[in-house]
Amino acid sequence: MNAVAGQVAGAAYIVAALLFILSLAGLSKHETSRRGVVFGIVGMAIALVATVVLVAAGAWGRQSGALGLTLLVVAVLVGAAIGLWRARIVQMTGMPELIALLHSFVGLAAVLVGWNGALYDTGLTGVLADIHHAEVFIGVFIGGVTFTGSIVAFLKLSARISSKPLMLPGKNALNISALALFLVLTVWYVITPELWLLIAVTLLALALGWHLVASIGGGDMPVVVSMLNSYSGWAAAAAGFLLDNDLLIVTGALVGSSGAYLSYIMCKAMNRSFLSVIAGGFGIEAPKSSDEQYGEHREIDAEAAADLLAGASRVVITPGYGMAVAQAQHGVADLVQKLRERGVDVRFGIHPVAGRLPGHMNVLLAEAKVPYDIVLEMDEINDDLSSVDVVLVIGANDTVNPAAAEDPGSPIAGMPVLRVWEAGNVIVFKRSMASGYAGVQNPLFYRDNAQMLFGDAKEKVDEILFQLSRSEVPR
Ligand code: TAP
Repeated sequence: MNAVAGQVAGAAYIVAALLFILSLAGLSKHETSRRGVVFGIVGMAIALVATVVLVAAGAWGRQSGALGLTLLVVAVLVGAAIGLWRARIVQMTGMPELIALLHSFVGLAAVLVGWNGALYDTGLTGVLADIHHAEVFIGVFIGGVTFTGSIVAFLKLSARISSKPLMLPGKNALNISALALFLVLTVWYVITPELWLLIAVTLLALALGWHLVASIGGGDMPVVVSMLNSYSGWAAAAAGFLLDNDLLIVTGALVGSSGAYLSYIMCKAMNRSFLSVIAGGFGIEAPKSSDEQYGEHREIDAEAAADLLAGASRVVITPGYGMAVAQAQHGVADLVQKLRERGVDVRFGIHPVAGRLPGHMNVLLAEAKVPYDIVLEMDEINDDLSSVDVVLVIGANDTVNPAAAEDPGSPIAGMPVLRVWEAGNVIVFKRSMASGYAGVQNPLFYRDNAQMLFGDAKEKVDEILFQLSRSEVPR
């Protein structure tokens, strides 16, 4: 019974692993992303059923077996119910914090699996026992760092704590010492696996995770979320070694490496050093708070904005987090359609970190049925912006901040931005002069060619639509 179930589960695990790889491949493009999600769901369903079958076969005829199986099924049902409920109610803007919270569960699970591995007598001896002890120690360490790191990320992203970087004196030395101490403790534990060493590494990992993410400033949080995604993958892989579960090892490695690669791509897009971000803001100095005065800003109303648009031949829209908050994407799609009907060339310029998670704007625009071919990446549109008549900056701020390109002292210096200020006219939709996520002032708002359209982005877009319809010549 056990041997057959083991073979069936092994085969099912291979199929599930292949489906996870296909899922990642599908998710890399808009057009195939739905298929990618379906592959992921099917793969996970197969993995879950195979695992339950495996546990059921192991429990067969054993006294404690029924209890183990019942606990497993209850855990799966409770987890699935909570997962379904959260996924149904979460707003797109709340996704990064939900993801951070989910990563913390993976980290906690890895710590618990590690502790279980240490307390459970495996009967191993010699080199095998040494390897087992190293697996326990490494698993607990990666899991602990992921656990507290993800909790801090969750607290920062949900604005429960300040997104400013924590600047402890000698923070880099602290991080490096913690890593060195971990290596020493690992060797010690392999030689003499004493409980106090396990307690010490757990506390060390929890403190390091907290400090690593607390040291990272708001502007770098997108990279942190994908970095924690990567850590959670490695934590799962470490748990897979301990539980002797091949699928967990493969899946953990897939998540770990794809998360690391995504972090690398995002660092490149934001001109950040990958190593400095994953090492907890290593070498990044505390930003100087800028109190520079940029002069007066100009305001515009919806009617004048509609006139400007009606007279334009080339328009670019650069959306940001505010469009998501206002849920203005459907109005924006209608505005695009109306302008295109009037013969205006309208395109979108999407910054790689616009919004609060990678691809955030693309998802919203796709939901509002904006055609893919007019939605361009930042690099594809930046050189064209100087020949555009009007740019509509809808709820974006950091991603269009000229200080990133022009002020070397700015905390976001060097981060590539959409050069909207090169256009003939810029209309900025936002509710106030407040700064964006990175907490940096934006000199764009004071440029001669920029005008502020204050108010909720959805309401303002609807007002412009109304004005444009009024000015339409009856056929
Ligand atoms: P932000 O710089 O955060 O600016 C958004 C602007 O939208 C704010 O200045 C806000 O100004 C305005 N706004 C908010 N609600 C609005 C509403 N209802 N109507 C109109 N305007 C509204 O956004 P961004 O330009 O998209 O830049 C993204 C930032 O988030 C970057 O700093 C990025 O690093 C960070 N981040 C990105 C990610 C990823 S992966 N994309 C993840 C986490 C963090 P008012 O308050 O004055 O209205």
